[in-house]
Amino acid sequence: MARLTIKGISKSFGFSHAVSDVSLDVEDGELVCLLGPSGSGKSTLLRMIGGFEAPTAGKILIDAKDVTSTPPERRPTGMVFQSHALWTHMDVFDNIAFGLKLRRLPKIEVLERVEQALALVGLADYGKRMTTQLSGGQQQRVALARSLVLEPKILLLDEPFASLDQHLRERLREEVRDIQQRLGITTLFVTHGQDEALALADRIVVMRDGHIEQIGPPDHIYREPETEFVAGFIGSMNFIRTIVKNGLSQHSAFPLPVPIADGEVVLAVRPESLSLAAATGKPCGFVHRSIDFGTHKVVDVDLSDGARVKAMTSSSSDWKRGTPVELGATASRVFRDNRLVYEFTSDPSRQNDRVFGHV
Ligand SMILES: Nc1ncnc2c1ncn2[C@@H]1O[C@H](COP(=O)(O)OP(=O)(O)O)[C@@H](O)[C@H]1O
Ligand SMILES: [Mg+2]
Repeated sequence: MARLTIKGISKSFGFSHAVSDVSLDVEDGELVCLLGPSGSGKSTLLRMIGGFEAPTAGKILIDAKDVTSTPPERRPTGMVFQSHALWTHMDVFDNIAFGLKLRRLPKIEVLERVEQALALVGLADYGKRMTTQLSGGQQQRVALARSLVLEPKILLLDEPFASLDQHLRERLREEVRDIQQRLGITTLFVTHGQDEALALADRIVVMRDGHIEQIGPPDHIYREPETEFVAGFIGSMNFIRTIVKNGLSQHSAFPLPVPIADGEVVLAVRPESLSLAAATGKPCGFVHRSIDFGTHKVVDVDLSDGARVKAMTSSSSDWKRGTPVELGATASRVFRDNRLVYEFTSDPSRQNDRVFGHV
């Protein structure tokens, strides 16, 4: 159990800035997901926390102790990588026992701790197997056990299940969540999959081009994205490009009041915030297709300006291709130059019509 503090960390490789001025506090026992597209600096940040990469600037503290220049083996961290680097000439037991033997622990204690670790990852009877006789999922469990057996205060996982199929990945991430909660171990989990982050995290850190775009609990990131990038990165989102003139969006299908300075904006509307009705007057667009997900339907609508939007409807509704429709947005976040400038919602339980910053 430990608290992690990252203060203004940066890392450059020549002229490329892999991580730029990142600050983050991770609470004792918290699971934080680093989420971002490939190349956004997630692995570099994690490797600096583990001590495998030296920062160009900034500090890393674990339980208020500065570990910025402490080598990896002397940090209270354990790291699991995407591609398991297990030793193929050793059996599972010896792979897990390796780090304990280096620490010269008594044999009986090594035995006990390896057996505990194996049980923890659901491989109780696998000690004598060679690692080459294991499936990909089992190999990743061994890699996890090998980290956990050293009882790190902070667990660092870099896309540990990315090479596995989706079904197995979902099962293993639930197991990791269970183990993490049982041990109360502070954990950073790198992923580029939004589902994985939404399912696992106490908080999500959305990264882009080496900086933090937004930090927050999953529902907050989903419902209150602070930038256009975050709005588009998590969940399904309709982006409608339009121009504001005299406080009104000029888009024919979305003539919403937007009380900000004139200029270009992007309206971001979730499919569940887009209502659909058969057109009585001039239609906003025409149904392209409707997909039935059992619990709900998603209807693609082609707008007259060529854009296509998605609306979520009940599973009992029936929208045939070519049907002329009207659209209404019950909530929208409005972005200009990636920044949130206005929020509109007709939900009375939430604050209405907020203007953000200076625009
Ligand atoms: N050892 C390295 N040398 C040079 N550039 C690197 C090195 N490691 C990472 N980078 C660069 O830093 C950026 C961030 O990489 P990385 O942290 O691996 O991103 P992610 O894990 O989010 O995909 C990328 O542009 C990558 O090419
Ligand atoms: Mg990476």
